[in-house]
Amino acid sequence: MKSSILVTGGAGYIGSHTAVSLAKAGFRVVLLDNFSNSDFQAVQGVRSLINAEVPFYEVDCRDTDGLFDVFRIEKEKGHVIKGVIHFAALKSVGESVENPELYKDNNILGTERLLEVMRAFDVENLVFSSSCTVYGEPEVVPVDENAPFLEAESPYGFTKQACERLIVNHLTRNPKFNAVILRYFNPIGAHPSAVIGESPRGVPNNLIPYLCQSVAGIRGALHVFGTDYPTPDGSCIRDYLHVMDLAEAHVAALEFLFKDKLRDKDTGWRAYNLGTGKGASVLEVIQAFEKVTGLEVPYSIAERREGDVVAIWANASRAKDELGWQTKRSLEEALNDSWRWQKKRPDSQ
Ligand code: NAD
Ligand code: UD1
Repeated sequence: MKSSILVTGGAGYIGSHTAVSLAKAGFRVVLLDNFSNSDFQAVQGVRSLINAEVPFYEVDCRDTDGLFDVFRIEKEKGHVIKGVIHFAALKSVGESVENPELYKDNNILGTERLLEVMRAFDVENLVFSSSCTVYGEPEVVPVDENAPFLEAESPYGFTKQACERLIVNHLTRNPKFNAVILRYFNPIGAHPSAVIGESPRGVPNNLIPYLCQSVAGIRGALHVFGTDYPTPDGSCIRDYLHVMDLAEAHVAALEFLFKDKLRDKDTGWRAYNLGTGKGASVLEVIQAFEKVTGLEVPYSIAERREGDVVAIWANASRAKDELGWQTKRSLEEALNDSWRWQKKRPDSQ
C-alpha cells in the first residue's frame, strides 16, 4: 500500500469520490469532516466502496488540537500521514454574501490551522481545492492559469483567492513544502454505483442538484437564471465535468507531488485548471438531461442571479501536459449518473 493521505472534507461531495479513487490507486485514506454540510452516510458509502479500513475523524479544521490528534493518532498506529488533500470549506456563494465573516473564519482560518499542524508533523505535500471563481469574470475564455485574479465575485471567491495566497506564503517560509492547487470548474455527476453522490442540505443552490430534485418532484420548476446574457442562447455558460474525472485528477496530482516533480519547477507550487475545455449553457444542459433520461425538465425563465459570471470554461491543457490528466466522461454520462443517484437518495420520491 502507498502512503496515508488525509482527506479533509472527506464526507463531502468531491472528497468522498476522491477517497474512493485514491484507494483504488493504492493510497490509504484517512477522512476528516465536521459534518457542517454532510453526514455519516457518506463515510459509510466510502467504506463500502473501498471495502477496507477507512479511519474517520469528526474534527473541525479550525480546531488545532483536534487536527494535532489526527496526525498523532495515525502516527502512533504506524501510519505517518504523508500528504493532505484539503477540501474542507463552505461553498455556497449566496450564503457567503449573507455571512462573509463565517466564510472567512471557516475557509481561511481552517486552512491556516491545517498548514500549521502539517508543519508541526513535517507533512510536505498538499493538494488544495480551489475554484475557477478565483478568476472573477475573465476577460478571455477559455481561461488559463496565467489569467489574473480579478476582483472576487463573492466572499466565497475571496476566500479561495486568500487561501491560494496563504499557501504560497507558507511555501516561502517552508522550503520543503510542496503544493498543487487545483482550480475546479463545475463538477457534476456521481459515482456510477450510486452509493455516493452530491447531498446538499436544504434547497440546492447548484444547477444539477436543483434540476434533479425538480424532475423528481421534490422542488418546483427549475428557474433558469437569465436568458438575456450575451451568449448564443442567452443563458450562462459553464464547464461541467464528471466528479469521477475530478476525483482522478487528485490522484494524478498526488502522484506528481510524490514523484518530486514540483522541485524541477523551482517554485514548490503549481496551479491547474480542471475542466473539460468545453462550455455548455444552462439551456443546453437541460436539453442534454432530457435526451439522456427521456424525462422532461420543468423549468421557467427567471431573473439573472446576482454575482453570476456570464461565461467561463477552462483551458485545461496544463493539467494534460504536466499531470497527464484529462476528462474521459461526457456531459451526458455525468447527467445520467446524477439522475441515477437522485433516484436512490432517501429524500427522492
Ligand atoms: P461539500 O460541502 O460537499 O464538501 C465539503 C466538506 O467539508 C463538507 O462535508 C463539510 O461538512 C466539510 N467542512 C466544511 N468546513 C469544515 C471545517 N471547518 N472542518 C471540517 N470539515 C469542514 O463541497 P464539495 O463540493 O465537495 O467541495 C469541496 C471543495 O471543493 C471545497 O473546498 C469547495 O470550495 C471546492 N469547490 C467546489 C466546487 C463545486 O462546485 N462543488 C467548485 C469549485 C471548488
Ligand atoms: C459557483 C461558483 C463556484 C463554486 C460553486 C460551488 C462562480 C463562477 N462559480 O458555481 O466557484 O465553487 O458555485 O457552489 O461563482 N443556475 C440556474 N438555476 C439554478 C441554479 C443555477 O439557472 O437553480 C445556473 C447559474 O446561473 C449558472 C449555472 O446554472 O449559470 C451553474 O450554477 P451553479 O451550479 O450554481 O454553479 P456556479 O455558479 O457556476
